[in-house]
Amino acid sequence: MQYTRLGTSGLKISRIALGCMSFGDTSQMPWALDDDGAEPIFRQAVESGITFWDTANIYAFGTSEEIVGRAIKKYTKRDDVVLATKLFNPMHGGPGGSGLSRKAVMEQIDASLTRLGTDYVDLYQIHRFDPETPVEETMEALHDLVKAGKVRYLGASSMWAWQFATMQHAAHSHGWTPFISMQDQYSLLAREEEREMFGLLAHSGVGSIPWSPLAGGRVARPWGQDSTVRAKAAPDTDYLGRPLFVDTDEAIVDAVQKIADTHGVPMAQVALAWVLKNPVVSAPIVGATKTRHLTDAVAALDLTLTEDEIAALEDPYTPRLPTYF
Ligand SMILES: NC(=O)c1ccc[n+]([C@@H]2O[C@H](COP(=O)([O-])OP(=O)(O)OC[C@H]3O[C@@H](n4cnc5c(N)ncnc54)[C@H](OP(=O)(O)O)[C@@H]3O)[C@@H](O)[C@H]2O)c1
Repeated sequence: MQYTRLGTSGLKISRIALGCMSFGDTSQMPWALDDDGAEPIFRQAVESGITFWDTANIYAFGTSEEIVGRAIKKYTKRDDVVLATKLFNPMHGGPGGSGLSRKAVMEQIDASLTRLGTDYVDLYQIHRFDPETPVEETMEALHDLVKAGKVRYLGASSMWAWQFATMQHAAHSHGWTPFISMQDQYSLLAREEEREMFGLLAHSGVGSIPWSPLAGGRVARPWGQDSTVRAKAAPDTDYLGRPLFVDTDEAIVDAVQKIADTHGVPMAQVALAWVLKNPVVSAPIVGATKTRHLTDAVAALDLTLTEDEIAALEDPYTPRLPTYF
């Protein structure tokens, strides 16, 4: 495993992060793995040196955090894991159940710590921007969590660059803790952050930790080969009805397949090597439902793409609407 610092912070993370959205109660998410199903993946993560684990309160409605908490106790040590979780999405209908108000921040961290069975989270991330709460209220409440020792660092996820900049400005101007990471959707099929967010991240030393770096698996298998449980359940649009995939994507997936064949490696390695080569990316967050998914992710660290290969992967891309925020 390779290790890096998250952005320009001192936090040392593995260059591959374990996405824990794949774990949870199957009644909440049909393709999720329960404790037993997830065991080989956690074991392999520990053996491979994948120390950076990402979950969220909303994943399978809290059950992902519960599984992750038990896994830390069974397969590793709390201090050996950089544990990340998130708040924002509705956990219940009450005033502290969603959003980024002071009430929600205080309530949701305690609920996450209880489910995770720990007294601190390394990286506490806002899952989205909350247009209904003043940014100063959120940033001061998050800073208070850091000062209380419940949280070590702060991060954010998927929003417009102006929203992120506004929140960072509030933190800096009041002497509160700023975000060190941005968890954004970034893959060969979702490159809008190259224009929207990455310049700001590079300029301000914030590390990108991309979610769905394999487009949920779409770039890891030949076009149209959607035979897994997750692929069969995958939607065509996000929750606002915006298309997740466009016509030009087939040519990109074909290019991934061709380059993978040339190297004699699985497609996932090529697609992840492409994400990893971007200097603003600290660590992609990989979703694994089988142990070989982590094997491929780790192997991607050693795959170097040529300029011609990069051009072949990038040329078919067409701009599109961002999705999921
Ligand atoms: N902040 C946010 O809003 C947000 C949103 C989404 C996700 N996330 C985070 O990002 C993590 C990763 O998201 P994701 O699961 O969508 O990421 P992903 O890595 O793009 O997709 C993972 C899926 O790709 C397939 N896959 C992975 N490795 C493969 C390989 N070597 N060969 C073939 N197929 C492979 C598997 O699909 P099959 O299971 O179908 O085989 C797997 O479930 C989540 O766990 C979560 O922590 C954050």
